Amino acid sequence: MCGIVAYTGNKQAYPFLINGLKRLEYRGYDSAGVALLSENQIRLYKKQGKVADLERFCATEDLSAHTGIAHTRWATHGEPNDENAHPHLSEDGSLALIHNGIVENYLSLKNELLKRGYVFKSHTDTEVLIHLIQDIRKTEQVDLVEAVQMALSVVVGTYALAILSSEYSKQIIAAKKGSPLLIGLGKNEFFVGSDGAPIVEYTQKVVYLNDEEVAVLHPDKELQITNIRNEKQRPSIQKLELKLEQIEKGGFEHFMLKEIFEQPKAIVDSMRGRINTQKDVVSLGGIIEYENKMLNAKRFIIAACGTSWHAGLVGEHIFESLIRVPVEVEYASEFRYRNPIINEDDVLIAISQSGETADTLAAIELAKRKGATVIGICNVVGSSIARSTHAGSYTHAGPEIGVASTKAFTAQVTVLTLMALSLARKKGTISLSYYYQLVNGLGAIPEKIEAILKKNDEIKEIARYFVDKQNVIYLGRGVNFPVALEGALKLKEISYIHAEGYPAAEMKHGPIALIDEAMPVVILATEQETYEKIVSNIQEVKSRRGKIISIVSEGDETVKNMSDFCIEIPKTEELLSPLVASVPLQLLAYHVALLRGCDVDKPRNLAKSVSVE
Ligand code: F6R
Repeated sequence: MCGIVAYTGNKQAYPFLINGLKRLEYRGYDSAGVALLSENQIRLYKKQGKVADLERFCATEDLSAHTGIAHTRWATHGEPNDENAHPHLSEDGSLALIHNGIVENYLSLKNELLKRGYVFKSHTDTEVLIHLIQDIRKTEQVDLVEAVQMALSVVVGTYALAILSSEYSKQIIAAKKGSPLLIGLGKNEFFVGSDGAPIVEYTQKVVYLNDEEVAVLHPDKELQITNIRNEKQRPSIQKLELKLEQIEKGGFEHFMLKEIFEQPKAIVDSMRGRINTQKDVVSLGGIIEYENKMLNAKRFIIAACGTSWHAGLVGEHIFESLIRVPVEVEYASEFRYRNPIINEDDVLIAISQSGETADTLAAIELAKRKGATVIGICNVVGSSIARSTHAGSYTHAGPEIGVASTKAFTAQVTVLTLMALSLARKKGTISLSYYYQLVNGLGAIPEKIEAILKKNDEIKEIARYFVDKQNVIYLGRGVNFPVALEGALKLKEISYIHAEGYPAAEMKHGPIALIDEAMPVVILATEQETYEKIVSNIQEVKSRRGKIISIVSEGDETVKNMSDFCIEIPKTEELLSPLVASVPLQLLAYHVALLRGCDVDKPRNLAKSVSVE
């Protein structure tokens, strides 16, 4: 979603700001803007569209300044246009603000400010905030930092923000609650980013702001941090765990393709150090302290959104089959609002790539309030979810920049499998031979994915068939039903073709009405317990002249002969099959989207980190 960058120091601010906005493009946005401060004057440039549009718009301007803030906006309040783009100015033009998050009580604040004569140029909640700061400053006769603290004390909602003032040359005020913000420390310079991507090129020394903290950045002064009650806070300097090459395309045409190809490594990294050399112990360091809670759990609740929710559905199969404890998988957004029954002996597992998904965070807080143990499975180190859970295991997939999640999914399934194996072994709910079969099977997955990646060109050819299609059905059974959901999600989000995932046997209960010669049906038909039943499901589609695109285990001639297109993948244990079966579907979606001329890495309307409800 929205992105923040800011700079103050001895160098020119604009090159850092524009480069930083480009690094944040992956988060999803629809307008961009920059405010520069020099000689006690704020200059503002903003534009609907891409960062490149903003760059063109500014090209003939004098952009020299050593201090500035910049933003990419993903519209929530007010449509995407130039006026609603950030930064927003105070009425007298002396303050400029960029803001991520939502001011939930903006309407009541706005009505109050309207009564006091303030005029609004945009429809955003952010503009309310800057007028409020200005109003407090005037009426309470306080300095700017105090005015910001006081304004943030009345705000209900979330924020990460940066403010310039024409009165305070070289100074930036930054603050955060519920939306991440980090400050990079250079020599007589400060960098600000809503994540590490814009900063990593310049410094690895960072301070992650905590909720309700307000930082004052001035190149000639020490970093000062207070909270909104004006109590001094001590900055904790950390090393930014990110490398520049991780956020670059490394020769691939798109981040999504790079990330699909990184899966063998992501899985190896997610397993690294978690299985001992004799393979008889699986152990996840991050959850050891809470292992007893997990071993004694009466129920697991998995809360997540989107692709992470699909990983949770795979996890449900794995946990129930290996640990024999009931698992419920919840959309975090529904769970948080339906007054769910949560007991103290429940363990909630929150899964999130970004670690910033607002609904998942809210589900965590709810479960904690009700006394449950909360375990996180996150990819982004130090993210809000990683910090708000009692314990957790990182996926170590490396930064995922493409909006469509790929390597995060297989890494999440890997970590869920490791968790289940470790608990099952301790509970004695798994036979030794099956345990070794799964541990060895997991170890062989990266090589099997490599073999599928070699079929990239073959899958590209199959993708041609989909280019002019309006609808696609994905079918799977058992542990591969979530893979059908995930395959459909990948296709719809990046190619804009309508796609639905169904359990194959559910087809007769409705969706079969859709089948005719124009309907492609992608079916997961790898070796599994219900294989024969899947063959019957394929017959049902064929009898109605639907087109079959099947994913089968190597050497399967039966389904291959029934299919219009067929992708063979290496055999693996049924419980592990989502780790391989999801990969051809990712490649298929990628090539279809590319052939349809879609912006694969930045699909319309989508954001990488959904940090608002
Ligand atoms: C799909 C996708 C989204 C995310 C969802 C949850 O490709 O990327 O559906 O999976 O927004 O995000 P995280 O995992 O960051 O909580």
